Amino acid sequence: MYIESVQLKNFRSYEIKEVTFKEGLNIIVGQNASGKTNLLESIYCSGIGKSPRTNNYKEMIKWGNDIAYIKVVLRKNKTLNTIEFSIDSQNKKRIAVDGIPLVKLGEIIGILNIVFFSPDEMKLIKESPQERRRFADISLSQQNKKYFYSLSKYNNILTQRNKLLKEHRDVKALPEMLYGWDVQLAEHGAYIIQKRYEFIDKIKGFAKNMHNELTSNLEDLELEYESKVEYGEIKAMQEAFFDRLRKDFDKDLNLLYTSFGAHRDDISIKINGIDVRKFGSQGQQRSVALSLKLAEIYLFESEVGEKPVLLLDDVLSELDPERRRKLMELSSGLQTLITCTDFDMDIAHNRILIEKEKK
Ligand SMILES: Nc1ncnc2c1ncn2[C@@H]1O[C@H](COP(=O)(O)OP(=O)(O)OP(=O)(O)O)[C@@H](O)[C@H]1O
Ligand SMILES: [Mg+2]
Repeated sequence: MYIESVQLKNFRSYEIKEVTFKEGLNIIVGQNASGKTNLLESIYCSGIGKSPRTNNYKEMIKWGNDIAYIKVVLRKNKTLNTIEFSIDSQNKKRIAVDGIPLVKLGEIIGILNIVFFSPDEMKLIKESPQERRRFADISLSQQNKKYFYSLSKYNNILTQRNKLLKEHRDVKALPEMLYGWDVQLAEHGAYIIQKRYEFIDKIKGFAKNMHNELTSNLEDLELEYESKVEYGEIKAMQEAFFDRLRKDFDKDLNLLYTSFGAHRDDISIKINGIDVRKFGSQGQQRSVALSLKLAEIYLFESEVGEKPVLLLDDVLSELDPERRRKLMELSSGLQTLITCTDFDMDIAHNRILIEKEKK
């Protein structure tokens, strides 16, 4: 799939803007603060339904205005799709696909598939497990609607459960009150964990290959899903989840939150047997993050039958020339949008110049 054009109205620094893209490599060039990341953010929003930079949607409305509007025209094989996304000053989102409004905003996910990489994605390797789970969750949600809905149900139930633990901690019948919630939490939790195991299992081969390419076979990358629930048949996983949840009730009552579940799992990342999360150098962590993102492209292709659009924000300046060249090679064969302040590589591309809008 590839994006043909993006139209923006009162989105971030843009009053009105239309940008057209080509298949293959698109280089978005502009000075600092000209609006390059804003442009990628608008595309990310149209694919994932939220910003990679903020949870407060209305920050994306151009200052002094009421509504931000994004329209993306997308080509898949021979069909054209349009995605329209608007945000108003009450933080209300409206999304339409091919002119038809979506009732559930979550329906947007999976139409425009995105793999996004920015210097911020380094967090994926070195920061809390939450970032690594987010990586799996965003990728899986784009590939599998059921996963997306299970995950939002899981998070809602978890919030309810934690609220009950806090508000009814002195109630004797609390374990009985939680029973129904725990059954549901186990049902969705086991499904999420099972899918994440399978995700890591599928992506780890691609990631290993990508990392071998990027490091000329010097570094062997190993991924593993880390959970207290073992992989197996869904029924067995649900039971194990439920039993553990009930067993930890006293502990949770002390902590006043749910200390076990899919929201506590992690992904282990090792290079030549060493934990990169803790001991990787900056450059290693950056390359591993890149290998994971590139691996995601191939996973998309094998799961959805189509390559996603690759968005690379500001990554070239952070890579050495050899890795930069490798990245270009590895990302050929799909639409790639790269932002940078200048580009002098001898490689065919569509150049898009972004200039700061006049006040
Ligand atoms: N809601 C908004 N309304 C108006 N302007 C905004 C809004 N949000 C951000 N901006 C402005 O958009 C400008 C461009 O931001 P952007 O992050 O896209 O720049 P950039 O081209 O990616 O720069 P860099 O090369 O430094 O990464 C910033 O100067 C910022 O002040
Ligand atoms: Mg930027």
